[in-house]
Amino acid sequence: MKIPIIIDCDPGVDDALAIILALRHPKVDLKAVCTVTGNGDLENTTKNGLKILSLCGREDIPLYKGSGKGLDDKQPDTVPAFGDDGLGGYAHVVQTDKQIEQENAVDFLLRAADESNGEITLFATGPCTNIARAIRKDKEFPKKFKKLIVMGGAKYTGNMSPVAEYNFWADPLAAKEVMNAGFHEIVMIGLDVTNKIALGADIREILRMFDTDLSRFIYNITRVGLEENWETRRKPVAPMHDVLTVAYLIDESILTLKKANIDVVAEGIGRGQSIVDIGGHWSDGNCNALYAAEVDVEKFYKLFLTTIFKENEQEILEYLR
Ligand code: RIB
Ligand code: CA
Repeated sequence: MKIPIIIDCDPGVDDALAIILALRHPKVDLKAVCTVTGNGDLENTTKNGLKILSLCGREDIPLYKGSGKGLDDKQPDTVPAFGDDGLGGYAHVVQTDKQIEQENAVDFLLRAADESNGEITLFATGPCTNIARAIRKDKEFPKKFKKLIVMGGAKYTGNMSPVAEYNFWADPLAAKEVMNAGFHEIVMIGLDVTNKIALGADIREILRMFDTDLSRFIYNITRVGLEENWETRRKPVAPMHDVLTVAYLIDESILTLKKANIDVVAEGIGRGQSIVDIGGHWSDGNCNALYAAEVDVEKFYKLFLTTIFKENEQEILEYLR
């Protein structure tokens, strides 16, 4: 049986990759996409979400527009990591007539929770605002999902400050409320592992040579991220953080998880920092989440590439061997 999922996101190059991987894998049933401000303002991330669904020929999947402002009622700073349009300057290439649904993302999430029978896995690959707003409206909301898989936080690093990752930093109160809301299971996939799966220049070049619509799209949207990493860190790699959430759903053995108690700093110098207490050492053994400690990078690439480019499977396997 297929696994039903909803992705709440801020597309975004890596959100786009997460959606594409979900749509290309036979095990995954993407029920809906919700959008939030993040890799661009809400209009921008929403437009990108519509374009990605159209690109993949899945206009039938509904897209719900969510929160433009954080829980503090201010628009969070957007990140230019993927260019002004959020898709590496390449968004204009995809045309779409697809429209958003009339229902707001928060109302949709509340309805989906009620109709879920506890079977839906919820993904958060952007700031947690929509999900936190749903929880504020219905305290039982978390219990109505199978689990939450969130790209956010980190134990040992940050990308907005020495200690804070963007999704948690953008709406830290939302992240805090979501982590402490009582989901049956939360898997927190943070920078400690997502930094390790950044797309290297060699594999990106192979995508160019595959020369399909999708491979050209991924090649082009990852250019800005790669150049930014080269300029700032002398590393020719493009960020792909969010895609690891869907890869984990498909093959859990890609990640090594550790039980942990995870909280988020809502304000001050540590704003957005995730405090990861492995084993609940400082919390009387209580753990509210699973923390992604390690990633099997080779296994990830095998899954990611052979799922999205099935027709090139042999070449991929030979290259990775
Ligand atoms: O810090 C990484 C996260 O923020 C990802 O979700 C990515 O889309 C970025 O905006
Ligand atoms: Ca994202």
